[in-house]
Amino acid sequence: MKQMHLVGFMHSSHVVLSHAIWRHPQTVLDFLTPEFYQTIAQTLERGKFDMVFFADALAFPDRHDNRFDLGLKYGAQGVVRLDPMLTATAMAVATRSIGVGITRSTTYYQPYDVARTFATLDHLSKGRAAWNIVTSSRNSEAQNFGLEQHLEHDRRYERAAEFVEVADKLWNSWQENALILDKSTGIFADPEKVDYIHHVGEWFKVRGPLTVPRSPQGRPVLVQAGGSERGKDFAAQWGEVIFEIKHTPAQMKAFYQDLKSRLSKFGRHPDDCKILPAITPFIGETEAIAREKQALHNELIHPEVGLFTLSSHMDYDFSQHDLDAPIADIHVNGSQSILQAARELSQSDGLTLRDIGKLYGQGVLTPHVVGTPKQIADYLEALFRDGTCDGFVISPAHLPGTFTEFVDTVVPELQKRGLFRTEYTGSTLKDHLGLTTKSLAEVG
Ligand SMILES: Cc1cc2nc3c(=O)[nH]c(=O)nc-3n(C[C@H](O)[C@H](O)[C@H](O)COP(=O)(O)O)c2cc1C
Repeated sequence: MKQMHLVGFMHSSHVVLSHAIWRHPQTVLDFLTPEFYQTIAQTLERGKFDMVFFADALAFPDRHDNRFDLGLKYGAQGVVRLDPMLTATAMAVATRSIGVGITRSTTYYQPYDVARTFATLDHLSKGRAAWNIVTSSRNSEAQNFGLEQHLEHDRRYERAAEFVEVADKLWNSWQENALILDKSTGIFADPEKVDYIHHVGEWFKVRGPLTVPRSPQGRPVLVQAGGSERGKDFAAQWGEVIFEIKHTPAQMKAFYQDLKSRLSKFGRHPDDCKILPAITPFIGETEAIAREKQALHNELIHPEVGLFTLSSHMDYDFSQHDLDAPIADIHVNGSQSILQAARELSQSDGLTLRDIGKLYGQGVLTPHVVGTPKQIADYLEALFRDGTCDGFVISPAHLPGTFTEFVDTVVPELQKRGLFRTEYTGSTLKDHLGLTTKSLAEVG
């Protein structure tokens, strides 16, 4: 039977998608220590999760009213972000099987740097690395990297396409078995199996080869979360795991069908890419207890912090709008897909900007799934069987408790139904995801 995939959603920080996390009575606030991240990774590994994944951005959020005071004072998402490559490495060395995914921007890094870093992580984790390819969304990020303005939306995807192509050439600059390591003959490596790449394109000029031998997976698993038209094509061309944030099952299903239908354009099979919507679970021994947990969590949201985060994600100052009106018809240079989801919600449910802000603070727009372990498993099973997704990204409401509860109560329920693995059957992340190893040159 086909089984679902599960990913734990993280930031290297005191919160993830929900602003309430850091204030939650059960949250352990040692987010500046390796143990915080290692405990989470070990918990998710105990639950046989495919991967733990870190989102990231490269600037302090300060778009709302063009100040950071409010967000910093109340601990909004993004005011603390350790470099996820290092927190993820700390996780990788404390685990044996779970995949570790990290976000790196194609707009502000260089392909040589990214290819080298991920090849290293793939070695150190013995084949468990994944790269979430993002194009970034804010002018404030540009201003930390020597530019005034963020690249225009479609241009950044053009850069991203060339970026991934160069990274793939670099990962292929070492063939398999290039390392010989024969002490008796003194032959370290076979020069026939390592080559320059001599890439010259519109954005990059890279000679190669990489200084890192071919890694266990050949290259990291490629993750993507583009939701615009251009973003979805990019995801269909490169993405092996695609995350989405959709508020309703209908929106999830439409996204799923849309994206899967785009894969054939790039010579890919629908199974080559796993599409995983994010949800935030609230788990109780009874439904009433679960609802109390959700209410307690929602109470902890500062009313304006969600809007502060929305302004940051959209790179647009929402403080200039009437809080009691629906979302205005505006253009943003930030994430188009999230704005679209917020707009649809505003229209379908008659929500004001204030309501959207509150929802945003409670977990961006991830659906809260509330109930007993059985009820939550029912919900996930129904979506999975209905062809709405290939699994789920679990976004926490408190840390590490949401993950512990999910692993101890919902995972066994899914396993009992044959919907989720009871043991890892392979050693690499590609094995967990059931992906065959193909170079991008073959599929692109
Ligand atoms: C679940 C999810 C996670 C994301 N994580 C990040 C991230 O860590 N960093 C980032 O800059 N963008 C992140 N994004 C934004 C997307 O990668 C993408 O850049 C953004 O949605 C803009 O692309 P679009 O206009 O095609 O939607 C995320 C989006 C989603 C839906």
